[in-house]
This record gives sequence, structure tokens and C-alpha cells, in this order.
Amino acid sequence: MQLRNKTALVTGGTSGIGREAALLLAAEGAFVIVSGRSAAKGWAVVADIEAAGGRAMFVPADLSDLDSVSRLAETAGEVDILVNNAGAFPFAPTVEQDVATFTTLVDTNLRGTYFLTAALVRAMAAKGSGSVVNVTSVAGLSGMAVASAYGATKAAVDSLTRAWAVEFASSGVRVNAVAPGHIRTDNVVAMIGEDSFDELGKKVPMRRLGTPREAAEAIVFLASPKAGYITGVTLPADGGFMALGDR
Ligand SMILES: NC(=O)c1ccc[n+]([C@@H]2O[C@H](COP(=O)([O-])OP(=O)(O)OC[C@H]3O[C@@H](n4cnc5c(N)ncnc54)[C@H](OP(=O)(O)O)[C@@H]3O)[C@@H](O)[C@H]2O)c1
Repeated sequence: MQLRNKTALVTGGTSGIGREAALLLAAEGAFVIVSGRSAAKGWAVVADIEAAGGRAMFVPADLSDLDSVSRLAETAGEVDILVNNAGAFPFAPTVEQDVATFTTLVDTNLRGTYFLTAALVRAMAAKGSGSVVNVTSVAGLSGMAVASAYGATKAAVDSLTRAWAVEFASSGVRVNAVAPGHIRTDNVVAMIGEDSFDELGKKVPMRRLGTPREAAEAIVFLASPKAGYITGVTLPADGGFMALGDR
């Protein structure tokens, strides 16, 4: 139980990778604040954590709305671990990208992440310790047709990861990112289609899709004291996707 007496906020903790990260952080002893827009899903995650003997609460928030981001930061108060996992991922070819969807991507993935972190990192720095883990994507590290806008938001968060790592290192706050590859979460399966997603998995060097748990384990590692001398990195959890030369 390496996170006993720590408080962790997981945005997008209501499903997929964020839900798994919330469960694992609680299993390590952290009190977990699960956030997202869906109260029903959020409280269900809290119930799962409590059923496993952990402690958690749900705080609703829409990361694309700055007032909601401020309220979340206020309600969360002082946290030791911030997992910026909430993400919108509507894909489109550049020539078909509509402005409303582009704005949702930027507001949720970049602006919401930026101002939530800005609001919460102050107390971490004052305390002299803290860990921020951003969840980005291999789409921000490589060129992916149909994911230009999404990939740009994730690349921007990788850039923030490095800038924040340098900005807050002397205050004892570490900032890292996990870039998931092809992870089998319900919403991504619904978007891409079961068969098409499985086909994509076969092109990964490990010849399979990743599980939400595998991505979450990387998040918890970077959040934990085991990663005590690691800051400013983006760790792909991608079955070797980024290592592949002839993608
Ligand atoms: N699965 C993959 O293959 C993959 C690959 C690369 C990167 N990622 C990244 O991993 C993260 C988690 O994705 P996932 O696959 O686990 O999908 P998911 O299950 O759909 O999770 C997305 C989470 O973000 C929350 N969210 C979305 N828009 C929000 C908003 N405006 N305000 C607050 N919360 C919001 C959702 O909660 P509510 O619906 O309750 O709001 C949900 O909990 C995302 O950042 C995604 O870009 C995933």
C-alpha cells in the first residue's frame, strides 16, 4: 500500500482507463476522487472501490467548461496525485473537421487539463510534493490520418508535461505522461468497431490490443514513489507501437 494517506483525483474516472486507474490507486491505499460528467457511472466506480475495501468519492465536472473545472478544483481541495485522464476523441479527416468538434477537443483535452492542473499544483508546490500524470496518446507522438486535431491536443499535453516538469521540479512536484496505444475500452470499441479495432491490434508488435488495466498500471507507476526520480517523460503503453519503424 504505497499510497496510504494520499489523495488522488482522476478525471475521466468514470470509465475505461480512468476507472481502472481509480481502482488501482485505491488498492494502493489512496483516497480517490473520481470525476467525470456521468454521476451514475462515477458513483458506480466509487461503489466498486468501496466494495474492494478502498475509499473514494465522486465529483461531477465537465472539463470543457472552465467554471466546472474551477468548481472541481475547489471541491477536490488539496490533492497529492492528479491524473489528467479525461479526454474527448472524435476523429475526422482534416478537410472534414467541423469547428464545434475541434473546439470540444481543445477545450476538453488541452484547456481543461491546463487550468485544472494550474489550480491544483499550487497546493502541491506549497507542500513540497505531488505527482501529476497526464494521459496523452500515441496519436500525439506519431502521424495518424483522421486524428490530426485529436493528436495535436495530445501532443500539446506532452509539451505541457515537459514544461511543467521543469517548472515544478524544484517544488517537489513530478509531472509525467502515459501515452496509451490501442487500448480496448468500451467507447473506443464503439467508435472504431470490434473487428476493425482487433485488426489494428494485429499490427501492433505485440499483436494484440492493450487492456485498460495495462494502461492504468503505467499511470499508477508514474504517480507512485517508485517513479521518484522520473519527471518530464511520456511513457508509451502501446505494445511496441511507437518502436515500430514501418507503421
Ligand atoms: N482507449 C484507447 O485506445 C486510447 C488510446 C490513446 C489515448 N487514450 C486516452 O485515454 C483517456 C481515456 O480514454 P478511454 O479509452 O478510457 O475512454 P473512455 O472510457 O471514454 O474515457 C474517457 C473519460 O473521459 C471523460 N470525459 C470525456 N469528456 C469529458 C468532459 N468534457 N468532461 C469531463 N470528463 C470527460 C469520460 O467521462 P464522462 O463520460 O463521465 O464525462 C470518461 O470517463 C483519454 O484521454 C483518451 O484520449 C485512449
